[in-house]
Amino acid sequence: MKSKINVGVIFGGRSVENEISVLTAIQTMEAINTDKYEITPIYISKQGVWYTGEALRKSDNYKNMEKLQAECQEVYLRPIYGDNCLYKVRKPMFGSDVAARLDVILPALHGTNCEDGSFQGAIEMTGIPYAGCNVLASANGMDKITMKMILAQSRIPVIDYTWFSDKEWFDSSERVVEKVEKTLAYPLIVKPADSGSSVGITAVHNREELIEAIDNAVSYSKRIIVEKLVEKLKEINCSVLGNYYECEASVCEAPIRSGEILSYADKYLGGGKGSKGAVKQSEGMRSTVREIPARLPEKDTEFIRTTAVETFKALACDGVARIDFMIDEADGKIFVNEINTIPGSLSFYLWEASGISFEQLTERLIEIAFQRKRDSSFKTTSYKENIFNYTLSGAKGAKGTKGR
Ligand SMILES: Nc1ncnc2c1ncn2[C@@H]1O[C@H](COP(=O)(O)OP(=O)(O)O)[C@@H](O)[C@H]1O
Ligand SMILES: [Mg+2]
Repeated sequence: MKSKINVGVIFGGRSVENEISVLTAIQTMEAINTDKYEITPIYISKQGVWYTGEALRKSDNYKNMEKLQAECQEVYLRPIYGDNCLYKVRKPMFGSDVAARLDVILPALHGTNCEDGSFQGAIEMTGIPYAGCNVLASANGMDKITMKMILAQSRIPVIDYTWFSDKEWFDSSERVVEKVEKTLAYPLIVKPADSGSSVGITAVHNREELIEAIDNAVSYSKRIIVEKLVEKLKEINCSVLGNYYECEASVCEAPIRSGEILSYADKYLGGGKGSKGAVKQSEGMRSTVREIPARLPEKDTEFIRTTAVETFKALACDGVARIDFMIDEADGKIFVNEINTIPGSLSFYLWEASGISFEQLTERLIEIAFQRKRDSSFKTTSYKENIFNYTLSGAKGAKGTKGR
């Protein structure tokens, strides 16, 4: 009998979105077809310690972290190319110190250290195929400044913005305020460049609020972006699935806000402050109140879906991403606001509404991971010749070393 492909679903992480990632992962593990795949759940704690164990598959168990960690096994991967073993930290007296062999990794992580290329880089070292964006696409997609620079260069519409570093702010807040006010007119919105889930984001209407908002934002990030605030905002999200060569857009959704900006509560607690009654336990992005498909004029839907694919390609993405748009209802202009390279709940609800089940989505993500691995194996990463075996006089390779 052919053994099943073992999928390491990795989640948690040193990110403000640690809990949301747990919810994404639990939903994903429930969706994976276990006739075909084995699942190894791997949780990275907020302190950065890795654990495996069946107890990680139930959200209730996360209420008592100490108990959960005690029930699980601490594990690690070695950054050695070709080693796909997940090792036990506490080596048993007898038997193997290998907890699992991972054929492919499905990252269900969100936010800093997780969605920004750091994690992807660590996995690249092992050579284990992994789903979703590679290091480059993850890093570019995470930083709201870099992302907007690339999109603007690709002629994809983004809202007017300016940016600066925390050091510039600490050195001279007056100069920064002057630069912002010279470039953009109030109202504005201040964001840490690489945070997520609306953390550290504030809409501002005057100088006093601007200063307060930046003081808050610098506690989250080294880089700050300030954008024009779209006052009559309609938000539309669209997911893209595939890879750089071949990808498709899902139907669009319109998430429903309770305040000026889509808050953490709107996203994960089903309506935030404004919602009536007790808030049920969050189910991650599944909890957002939304309209699917979004009711939009046909031409806007088409523009958004085409631009979502262009954005995915401009940032060289793989896997599933969600591209968030802003429509300025004052003049009908449409902008890309941001890309989420590992979207909450992997955007399964958008794919279900597009005719692809969550199970099929996980299967596609795993296939894309294997395909990238196959494609990259054809690229040259080292030369067979050993440069040290060439003498400097008359050797083929010697010329190239000149001046180094
Ligand atoms: N330029 C803008 N004008 C108006 N509202 C905005 C603007 N940018 C962001 N928002 C609001 O703030 C929310 C969070 O901003 P976003 O850039 O998506 O950051 P995050 O990565 O935290 O989701 C958006 O969903 C939207 O409601
Ligand atoms: Mg967002």
